[in-house]
Amino acid sequence: MTWPDNSASAAARQQMAAALTDGRLSEWTDAFAAVPRHVFVPRFYQQDATGAWQSLTWDDPGYLAAVYSDEALTTQLDDDGVPTSSSSQPSVMLRMLEALGAEEGHQVLELGTGTGYNTALLSHRVGDKAVTSVDIDYGLVKAAGKHLDTVGLRPTVVCGDGARGWQDRAPYDRIIATVGLHSMPEPLLEQAAPGAVIVVPLGYGIVRVTVTDPGHASGRFLPTPAYFMARRSNGAAPRFHEAAQQQPTDTTVPPADLLGRLKFPASLALPGYVSCSWQDTDGNLESVGLWTPDGSTATAHVSGAVRQCGPQRLWDMVEHMAKSFTGTPELEDFHLAITPTGQVVSYGAAGGPSWALPATP
Ligand SMILES: C[S@@+](CC[C@H](N)C(=O)[O-])C[C@H]1O[C@@H](n2cnc3c(N)ncnc32)[C@H](O)[C@@H]1O
Repeated sequence: MTWPDNSASAAARQQMAAALTDGRLSEWTDAFAAVPRHVFVPRFYQQDATGAWQSLTWDDPGYLAAVYSDEALTTQLDDDGVPTSSSSQPSVMLRMLEALGAEEGHQVLELGTGTGYNTALLSHRVGDKAVTSVDIDYGLVKAAGKHLDTVGLRPTVVCGDGARGWQDRAPYDRIIATVGLHSMPEPLLEQAAPGAVIVVPLGYGIVRVTVTDPGHASGRFLPTPAYFMARRSNGAAPRFHEAAQQQPTDTTVPPADLLGRLKFPASLALPGYVSCSWQDTDGNLESVGLWTPDGSTATAHVSGAVRQCGPQRLWDMVEHMAKSFTGTPELEDFHLAITPTGQVVSYGAAGGPSWALPATP
């Protein structure tokens, strides 16, 4: 069921649109003020103090305030309670849309339809006929189509792996992803018009590149960090049990660094890595764990004890990162260059650290 728009929801979204731009002029304010997010998020899930997921809908206290707040909202869980779709944080969506610079006359491709809310914002700005959106999950594609129809928008919404783009409607002047990638998928470049702008989450950052020649693109990361849901793929599970049986080695890098200042650069050096942390009963950090899709796993305890297993020595790479950066590196000092032979992220001036990204499978 989709809930009707009323004066309360209209007032709430006007307020959110104004708060997002904080008095600054943005070409996206009208879209945020016009598109009713609650139509796209009729239900979302929040974890209670025990970690159990509770669902909230229109009738629940706090629903409307949450939908029109600057919060990412989990909208779908799998059978194990793992989130598989969400409506992204509005302020991050705004920064990405501003970086995209889509306007009337542009053909736009979106990867990760999810609820369809971002698709609606794009359609509001450039016209629904010019927007194509792809999601891997057929159920979501169907639901997003319905939500879009409810607000009178009919962009092309299709089911597929966004990393393949959508050839039928290419070329695109603007391409945006709201699903996390490890590198720029080649089909996106092939389907991009000359001079196209592409904005995608890459590792724990968001990169904006301009296509200069066929197969060539370059650009910088935005200052905004990004924690998007990863593109679905079949990565191995972490091997914490096996790691716990390894002889510990010592590290001088505080485990908290991986959760803070090294989070983004580590995502370039260890594409697809995931981290987690354990706290003591007072809530103080005890240790962190990390693993990559090939099953490599490491844990680091605040005492300095590190245990690693699998094909890659993940914590060794974290230590290498810690030496490369004395403080917290600024995201906009990272630059991505794409050529037909490879993709390289470099930091700072020429001769600084750089990382070759893996091809997207
Ligand atoms: C953060 S949500 C997108 C939010 C969406 N833009 C919105 O406004 O609601 C990420 C979405 O990416 C989708 N996704 C995951 N892997 C994908 C893939 N390989 N291709 C396309 N979409 C994918 C998920 O199903 C999920 O709906």
